[in-house]
Amino acid sequence: MNLDSTASELAYQSGFGNEFASEALPGALPAGQNSPQKAPYGLYAELFSGTAFTMARSEARRTWMYRIRPSANHPAFVKLEHQLAGGALGEVTPNRLRWNPLDIPADPTDFIDGLVRMAANAGQDKPAGISIFHYRATRSMERVFFNADGEWLIVPQSGRLRIITELGILELAPLEIAVLPRGLKFRVELLDPQARGYLAENHGAPLRLPDLGPIGSNGLANPRDFLAPVAHYENLPQPTTLVQKFLGELWACELDHSPFDVVAWHGNNVPYKYDLRRFNTIGTVSFDHPDPSIFTVLTSPTSVHGLANLDFVIFPPRWMVAEKTFRPPWFHRNLMNEFMGLIQGAYDAKAEGFLPGGASLHSCMSAHGPDGETCTKAINAELSPVKIDNTMAFMFETSQVLRPSRFALDCPQLQTDYDACWASLPVTFDPTRR
Ligand SMILES: [Fe+2]
Repeated sequence: MNLDSTASELAYQSGFGNEFASEALPGALPAGQNSPQKAPYGLYAELFSGTAFTMARSEARRTWMYRIRPSANHPAFVKLEHQLAGGALGEVTPNRLRWNPLDIPADPTDFIDGLVRMAANAGQDKPAGISIFHYRATRSMERVFFNADGEWLIVPQSGRLRIITELGILELAPLEIAVLPRGLKFRVELLDPQARGYLAENHGAPLRLPDLGPIGSNGLANPRDFLAPVAHYENLPQPTTLVQKFLGELWACELDHSPFDVVAWHGNNVPYKYDLRRFNTIGTVSFDHPDPSIFTVLTSPTSVHGLANLDFVIFPPRWMVAEKTFRPPWFHRNLMNEFMGLIQGAYDAKAEGFLPGGASLHSCMSAHGPDGETCTKAINAELSPVKIDNTMAFMFETSQVLRPSRFALDCPQLQTDYDACWASLPVTFDPTRR
């Protein structure tokens, strides 16, 4: 059926926030202007904005697409009977929560049907806040999807994905992440029999690289390691179901063509991927360890300087060399709300119970830190340089309290004895011994 399609080989453009440009046919990008009277090859010009027109230039995201049919060429959307799993949000709780990995569905389930909302901290009509999902999939999507409610940060835990988007194709494996701009049309195919992972829906400012301050001009996630796709188009008359999520609800319409018909594009509102193994991890070379903000890969800022709507933070393999130091993450109570996941291996603050594919939630001012076993070991350890290897934990950190979904509170994967992991912390206080 592939009447007219560019080669399917993968290619990427590197950089972050660049004015990328790509054309699948030579000369398909108009020279010198965005919307000429007649675009090359009889294409239509369409502007795809990810931020308000009037944002500061450094924060503005927009892409010009040159496509066979404008996106406006669609019939009315109809609300789907089958909506996203996860249900409504449940009771807000100050308690610390932890979940075992969710099961992979037994029935054929595509990426959208396998989404389940775990928590959220804002109405999806608000220009701030996040929603957190798990995804599980056992078959490729046949329909095409876009999300009007925010950009998606996809964190695979198992199974490789091929994400066909309007702007080109990304292939993604565990230990890589992808970000899909709000409103971008895409389809997720499975490259393995099943896939599972985490997803943060960011309703606020688009994710960007954090400032580096005294670290300087290099380090953490480097811009050149972010990869955007190149233009790839289909000119197919095949009927396609186009689904959108709009204020949390799924709506669909039927197209008589593939919406992946963008022949050329330029701009910075683009999907991209990043390999977490490229993260230049920075830490102490003397004593103590820095705040975990030192591990921030991407951040969605708020209007309050330094207060994030969403920080995506990782805990990658790294050397621990701090002298005379309690090396695991310290005990703490924070303003920020922390939803953690584990991609592989073990997390250095927990001896057991936090499994790859599992998750935990520590809300504003909830006290947490290493469990009893990890703590006792750390206090008594003979300190020498140690490599923490075969690990990749991450955190979606957000400034507003996350409300778990009813599903998250009712599912059998919720651990009922999470508090017990701190119960074995010994009292070692002795007023006669300093
Ligand atoms: Fe924490």
